[in-house]
Amino acid sequence: MDQSSAAPQADANGASLAKSLVILYASQTGNAEFIARHINTEAVERGYSSNVFVCDDYGKVDFSLPSIVVIVASTTGDGDPPDNSTKFWRFIRREKPDKTPLAGKRYAVLGLGDTNYSQFANASKRFDKQLQNLGAVCFHRGFADDATGLEAVVDPWIAKLWDLLPDLLELSDKVRAAKFKAASKSAISSLRGTVNGKSTAADETTKQPPAAEVPSTTATKPVITTSDSVSTVKVTSETLWSPAPLELDLSVLSSLHTLSNVTKLPVTSLKISATGVRHPPRSLWDLCGVPSGAPPVSDPFSFSPARPYPAVVTARRTLTKTSAISRVIELTLSIATLGWKYRPGDAVGALAPNPTPLVDGLLAKLGLDGDGEISVEGEAAAGLSVGSLLPPLMTWRELFTWGPDLLAAPKKGLLRVLAESCSDPGEKREALFLCSKEGASSYRALPALQPTLLDLLCRFPSAQPEPFRLLGQLPHLVPRFYSVASFHPNGTEVKIAFGVVEYELRGSKRKGLATGFLEEATNGQGAESAIVIPVFPRPSNSFVAPDPSVPVLMVSAGTGITPFISFVEERTLVPEKSRGTGWLVYGCRWREVDDLYADTRQRSLAGGVLTRTDVVYSRETQEGSGSIVKYVQHLLRREGMDVWKFVVGGGTVCICGDLHTMAKEVHAALVDIALQYATEGELKGGMDGQPELIDASPNASRNGSIAGQQVAGSEGEAGSGPVGDIKVGGTSPEAKKALVEQFWKDLTVKGRYLKDIWL
Ligand SMILES: Cc1cc2nc3c(=O)[nH]c(=O)nc-3n(C[C@H](O)[C@H](O)[C@H](O)COP(=O)(O)OP(=O)(O)OC[C@H]3O[C@@H](n4cnc5c(N)ncnc54)[C@H](O)[C@@H]3O)c2cc1C
Ligand SMILES: Cc1cc2nc3c(=O)[nH]c(=O)nc-3n(C[C@H](O)[C@H](O)[C@H](O)COP(=O)(O)O)c2cc1C
Repeated sequence: MDQSSAAPQADANGASLAKSLVILYASQTGNAEFIARHINTEAVERGYSSNVFVCDDYGKVDFSLPSIVVIVASTTGDGDPPDNSTKFWRFIRREKPDKTPLAGKRYAVLGLGDTNYSQFANASKRFDKQLQNLGAVCFHRGFADDATGLEAVVDPWIAKLWDLLPDLLELSDKVRAAKFKAASKSAISSLRGTVNGKSTAADETTKQPPAAEVPSTTATKPVITTSDSVSTVKVTSETLWSPAPLELDLSVLSSLHTLSNVTKLPVTSLKISATGVRHPPRSLWDLCGVPSGAPPVSDPFSFSPARPYPAVVTARRTLTKTSAISRVIELTLSIATLGWKYRPGDAVGALAPNPTPLVDGLLAKLGLDGDGEISVEGEAAAGLSVGSLLPPLMTWRELFTWGPDLLAAPKKGLLRVLAESCSDPGEKREALFLCSKEGASSYRALPALQPTLLDLLCRFPSAQPEPFRLLGQLPHLVPRFYSVASFHPNGTEVKIAFGVVEYELRGSKRKGLATGFLEEATNGQGAESAIVIPVFPRPSNSFVAPDPSVPVLMVSAGTGITPFISFVEERTLVPEKSRGTGWLVYGCRWREVDDLYADTRQRSLAGGVLTRTDVVYSRETQEGSGSIVKYVQHLLRREGMDVWKFVVGGGTVCICGDLHTMAKEVHAALVDIALQYATEGELKGGMDGQPELIDASPNASRNGSIAGQQVAGSEGEAGSGPVGDIKVGGTSPEAKKALVEQFWKDLTVKGRYLKDIWL
């Protein structure tokens, strides 16, 4: 629509309205991108001129034009901006309030985060604050919590946005203008239909042909590649990825006459048409146009999830014994031609396809010809948008293998699409219930059931959704990250180590998407040529190894030890006199089974690179009286005095591991240690003075391995008892706790308390 020819519209005060909407997203795993694209599609539908950009493409936006900016940003790492927004963050920090076109710009911000993390939605808050510093004006702000369900905030935030925009933004389409001006009076209801189970648009859906039978899982030919050929991956279990029955709590539905606030049927601009050609699946390298022969490259960062680097696997070893609960596998990858001089703390991004049995099941259920070629056009919320690794022409199988995330927690839009396509009225009503206000708690319970898209389709067997609608509601497949577990100054090869995720869910065998793929793709059986896996470099923004001269305390459990192996290897290359002390605290289950990198640890201790190690074996703990030292947090509490001396002595504390099983508990232990041992002066900055480097030498304190040692004289579990001798005088316990929390926050800002936390 040519805006220049239209007379400028004005708000109630006569001020002229902005002409276009600029939607920027910062997203690590796709949620923010999905939401941003959804807002953009809906904005266009509502008659606005709107465009969506990833934050780091801010250069494509002319901020001097009259526009309204919407920012949808998640947070990653430890309060960090997502990778695709780091340039944007630097840009807004460089801008000057008196010179920037952002001054006076009206913007809305939607932050996504998770309150399990200490810095909730920090990236969006930082963007917000910096934009205000530049003189931009926020007219709408919201922060959604993944811990309780993003939708609780996202849906009303979007509804309110449509409510606010008519006063700020010109409509580009006069026909739609009239329609939406009228509709905007009823704000939220303009977004949602009301269903009474009898006569809504959704109920008028025409009968669909019955769905095809889902085949039982068989060995298949997936698109995992070796350098020149397609190798077959064995699917050993008959139930691997078979549909897991989904039991939904629909108990209140029978007593309801009406469903309110039912999610509106989402719009998508995606167009899919069959070309009439058929061909077998191509390798990933053929799809994304990267030669699989590892060509020399000038810019390692030209490789990304959309254009992965073919890393040759030169070695593979299993770090655990066969009796381990979870196998941990180490891969050595040749990255000689990549030219990436990685640093300890960096990670390798790895791409993995959707599991073949799941793709097969879906193709059958949807009645799609896997080898049938299709042309895909239009901007989609699925993994088909610009920048995706898929070409415009692909087969259905290629699309379902590399495009959408088939395991993502279902969004309401997806359930609404399913409801729309149900030919059975009872099923339709159940699906609509999940999209309604009355069904909110049943909807919130869904992610815990971990349904795949196939599980959902099997739960609503009469649903036969149109693929373009379905794909429009699926986020794209996201890569997984693996910390570098080695250090080479010239980066010709890199090691990664991963624990294979494997579990059973309601009779269905499941594997981690990436770890299942990496394990099978590298098992070497049947591969006639070099094994190649798709990766890309992922430098760390905040979890960077401290300078080797600085004392470091490294706390980890399980595979969380991997980055610390690279820290240790870097320190090995430094002369002893310029090396800070190195204290490793590590936890695993059994000494003989899953004690990862015990050889490296012992060598480093003997060579003086590590000056102290404390290892705790959780399954070797002897039950008895007193407190049990079972996990690393217990060990830290027991060694609290030394930990505190280390901190005030100028050391850097690094934690790596899983959020739920370890990182939270370790932070809580560190807080309690500070409460117990710190003086007020130390907490208020006394530690900024001359660091008193502590002695973490082997003789300084207890050393070596600890199996279930008990702390005499304490009650209950170590550290869970009352906080001891608090030396922060004159303040209430709450104030002291706040001071201590602030202390650790300040230490984070100073780069002396680093966390690499995985979900
Ligand atoms: C910066 C960074 C660095 C990382 N480095 C490493 C590393 O060095 N080594 C490493 O191993 N990992 C590392 N991770 C984690 C890694 O990226 C993956 O998250 C992990 O390997 C799992 O990926 P997956 O695709 O195999 O599993 P997914 O397909 O993502 O499945 C994981 C999900 O499976 C489900 N699940 C798992 N077990 C069960 C069960 N028993 N019952 C029911 N459901 C279950 C849970 O929902 C879980 O969230 C890192 C993460 C980040 C962000
Ligand atoms: C590795 C990792 C680190 C995270 N770190 C934080 C954090 O520090 N603070 C926060 O509020 N949320 C954090 N989150 C939660 C995400 O911001 C949240 O899940 C969000 O919905 C992800 O959106 P995205 O898919 O657009 O990246 C983290 C999530 C992951 C997987």
